[in-house]
Amino acid sequence: MTRFLVTSIALILAAGTAVAEPRSYALPEPTAQLRAPQGGTDTTHIMGFEAAQANCMSCHSVDYIAMQPPGKGKAFWEAEVSKMIKVYHAPIAEADAKVIAAYLTATY
Ligand code: HEC
Repeated sequence: MTRFLVTSIALILAAGTAVAEPRSYALPEPTAQLRAPQGGTDTTHIMGFEAAQANCMSCHSVDYIAMQPPGKGKAFWEAEVSKMIKVYHAPIAEADAKVIAAYLTATY
């Protein structure tokens, strides 16, 4: 009986060790970064990039921006930024909204 108990405990401990074994997972490439601003040395785009970093990643990941088809243009990005403010109540100042839309238009 004692021998049976000792064997059982040893088996349980062995099983526990097997579960605790370290595993490694292959993680997908991180996509949590906004792209570097395009548009040369135009400071508007750099300001827009910084304003987007500060204002566009608090509610959702950058994927929502990155997954839009490329080259959507100014009207689209202005409407997107305006929608974030008016529909979803993103607290973004008018001046920031302008440079963010310019940055997104030039970069995405
Ligand atoms: C106050 C929260 C909030 C902030 C801040 C915010 N968004 Fe959004 N955004 C949302 C919500 C909510 C959705 C819609 C999610 C859904 O439909 O599943 C969304 C969706 C989007 C989409 C997907 C297309 C669409 O219209 O649904 C884009 C692109 C986007 N946001 C861009 C931006 C940009 C650019 C900024 C910065 C100017 C920004 N978001 C800041 C809340 C926010």
